[in-house]
Amino acid sequence: MKIVIKLGKFLFTLPLQPSKLGEYVEMIKKMVQDKHRLLIVVGGGEIAREYIKTGREAGLNESTCDQLGIETSKINAYLLVNLLEDYAYPEIPENLKELKRFFGLGKVVVMGGLTPGHSTTAVGALAAETVKADMYIIATDVDGIYTKDPKIFKDAKKFEVISTNEAFKLAVEGKLLAGTYELDPLAIKIIERSKIPTYFIDGRKIENFFKVLAGEKVGTYIKSSRSGEEK
Ligand code: UTP
Repeated sequence: MKIVIKLGKFLFTLPLQPSKLGEYVEMIKKMVQDKHRLLIVVGGGEIAREYIKTGREAGLNESTCDQLGIETSKINAYLLVNLLEDYAYPEIPENLKELKRFFGLGKVVVMGGLTPGHSTTAVGALAAETVKADMYIIATDVDGIYTKDPKIFKDAKKFEVISTNEAFKLAVEGKLLAGTYELDPLAIKIIERSKIPTYFIDGRKIENFFKVLAGEKVGTYIKSSRSGEEK
């Protein structure tokens, strides 16, 4: 299968944890050995939040803060590319045209952000659409999409399946500021139009990735509200 995986800030913490990163490197290698084609999109993590906070406090505008997030996600991507050694294509795509070209060469491609105004989760959706992925896995530090923020509200309920229509309603209620595109509306719209089967999982548990690949129920399945329509 062609799989796009978004690895968020649960992995790119401050300080970085080499042994934890190593576990995800081994996971990616195992998936390649299992004959999957992989495209990994990494976020800016806690480092991005530090830069964005500092930039904002100094009066930088939101798009410049977004750019700080993009640059840090590329540093994270560069780190992961090098940890993957021969498994990965050595360059980080700067745009979707480059992504297509690099991905066509057969190795794992790792990328960060692209343009201001959205998250790397949206980049993952665009990347999945570009390479016609069979599956998009959004790995975060929560075990699914909830009716409200489960870290704040005890009565929040988890969706096993959510339509892109419902997810979009939740997404637009969130704040659209650098560093805080929580459930990104752009990502939801791209998932909707591309109809790529998308899973939102707790990435802190590596077994969850293999469960999704094995077709087991884990996290939240984001189903395109247009999935009945012709491609
Ligand atoms: P992310 O918010 O995507 O990082 O990018 P993350 O660490 O993966 O976050 P989680 O785990 O999904 O929460 C960091 C910031 O970089 C900017 C945004 O400000 C974003 O919040 N960014 C990233 C862009 O503006 N455009 C991009 O294409 C990517």
